Amino acid sequence: CGIVGYIGNDQAKDILIKGLQKLEYRGYDSAGIALVNDNGIELHKEKGRIAALEEAIGSEGTGTTGIGHTRWATHGAPSKENAHPHQSISKRFTLVHNGVIENYQQLKSEYLQDVNLASETDTEIIVQLVESFADKGETIDEAFRQTLALLHGSYAIALIDNEDDETIYVGKNKSPLLIGTGDGVNVVASDAMAMLHITKEFVEIMDQEVVIVKKDNVQIKKLDGSKVTRDSFTTDIDESDTEKGTYNHFMLKEIDEQPFVIRNIVQKYQNDDGDIKLDDDIRSAINDADRLYIIAAGTSYHAGLVGKELMEKAANKPTEVHIASEFLYNEPLLSKNPLFIFISQSGETADCRGVLVNVKKQGFKSLTITNVPGSTLTRESDFTLHTYAGPEIAVASTKAYTAQMAVFSILAMDGARAQGIDTDFNAIRELGLIANAMETLCDQKDIMEQIAHDYMFKTPNCFFIGRARDYHVVQEGALKLKEISYIQAEGFAGGELKHGTIALIEDGTPVVAVTTQEHVNLNIRGNIQEVVARGAKACVISTEATKQEGDQIVLPNINELLTPLLSVVPLQLIAYFAALHRGCDVDKPRNLAKSVTVE
Ligand code: G6P
Repeated sequence: CGIVGYIGNDQAKDILIKGLQKLEYRGYDSAGIALVNDNGIELHKEKGRIAALEEAIGSEGTGTTGIGHTRWATHGAPSKENAHPHQSISKRFTLVHNGVIENYQQLKSEYLQDVNLASETDTEIIVQLVESFADKGETIDEAFRQTLALLHGSYAIALIDNEDDETIYVGKNKSPLLIGTGDGVNVVASDAMAMLHITKEFVEIMDQEVVIVKKDNVQIKKLDGSKVTRDSFTTDIDESDTEKGTYNHFMLKEIDEQPFVIRNIVQKYQNDDGDIKLDDDIRSAINDADRLYIIAAGTSYHAGLVGKELMEKAANKPTEVHIASEFLYNEPLLSKNPLFIFISQSGETADCRGVLVNVKKQGFKSLTITNVPGSTLTRESDFTLHTYAGPEIAVASTKAYTAQMAVFSILAMDGARAQGIDTDFNAIRELGLIANAMETLCDQKDIMEQIAHDYMFKTPNCFFIGRARDYHVVQEGALKLKEISYIQAEGFAGGELKHGTIALIEDGTPVVAVTTQEHVNLNIRGNIQEVVARGAKACVISTEATKQEGDQIVLPNINELLTPLLSVVPLQLIAYFAALHRGCDVDKPRNLAKSVTVE
């Protein structure tokens, strides 16, 4: 979901639509825009893709001030009625909102008993409240701030007034929002990528601030009305980084970018002597902690599982990994001096932010590993490490995952050095080898396409098995496949399958096995035999050190601690081709959002 807004001299419609298209990657199921013009507010919204919205607008849509929205349903089904923008009863005010207003029922009964609400949405409460305060004679600025002061929960809001085509009112709490500034034009966007076609200059907005956006100036205020000044920053995201180029899908482009990303990480974290370059404060924070707690969601959680192994095996640092949404309401017993490490591609995941807020209250230090500098998690944690993967647009994460693990390998090597551990683990050297090997794998797309065709074309389900480190990778492989191809897929610890799940194996059930570690190679080979004996069709990914005759993919030997960076590449490609063969929307899978800013 996402928000855009435009105020300037040009017609806003196409600019807003392009902005919404740039936000498509975040996931959505309906979209809408509203423009202020001589007839008041012109409102258009549709269920489904932005293309459907564009078609509905046709040649209509005039005005040089407007707001737009993509919605990912939380409360209420995806429908035209529930799509944003929403309007007040008199239709004077129109707004778009991301986030969740937790106390909307209470606000409804306290302030809006006499108002006939058009929907059940939390968002409508906001716009009606603004109208009710404005009706009492407050200025719009005042009515807007009074409303926001009553809201509990998360929001990024942009509001327009049909009596004023020179202002957009913006407010933010916990949900991401930026103001882009230009010459005689200002814009509003959930992230910078949405408005790179207008400007590269942005101003950050903090929680509980409002912004009065005019075409020639931007005024930031706190909810009490006091003014705030803040410098703008220039984003280093290039517009071409957000385009598909010659690729049909962002996902394939991003898979292919992985060797480049890994080399980029090496460059960014290496000093002139070829040694690791890391902030002293981060080094001390890791060194001083008695235990690391990795907190993440989705693919980033899977990177965390590998991160834990790296920190424990290479740097001797006790580490736990937790799913953010679980940790949030079920905090385990903590060590005396923990360091929290948040892994998040977007830096916006609400489940992670919830944990961050809690652990900060307890006085603990935090480090965020993210692909989006300036994101909420980076602003609110003590330290940040950037994954330098460039914008990741496909909903299914690929290059961000390998980048996260690469950054952990740097942390692990540094941690080992800082503690004087005698190890030959050299992340910088290994990452160089990995980048080369990734390139070779990316050149073998025909093999992966064939596997996808042979194993996944018709199957309703697919199992992935691995042991130890390979178990973490197969969980990611299964997630990739189910996210984009909708095949029911699960990643299992090879030895655990026989304790229940093996009951699901039938004639022809595909089982993808990853075996990259010599000490468990024979064990997983045994597990492969168990499923094959029950009719499974096995596809084995091994290394030069673990290979056996008949394995479908053999990876070059690299340090065993880092094999996930390589073994995941075929899994990503197999998932991609499986989705493609099954006619799925690879980059924008159903029901999923790239950046989930609600708990
Ligand atoms: C969403 C996405 C996943 C992603 C997860 C965590 O669910 O669909 O692909 O892994 O969020 O996102 P983050 O930005 O925190 O890494």
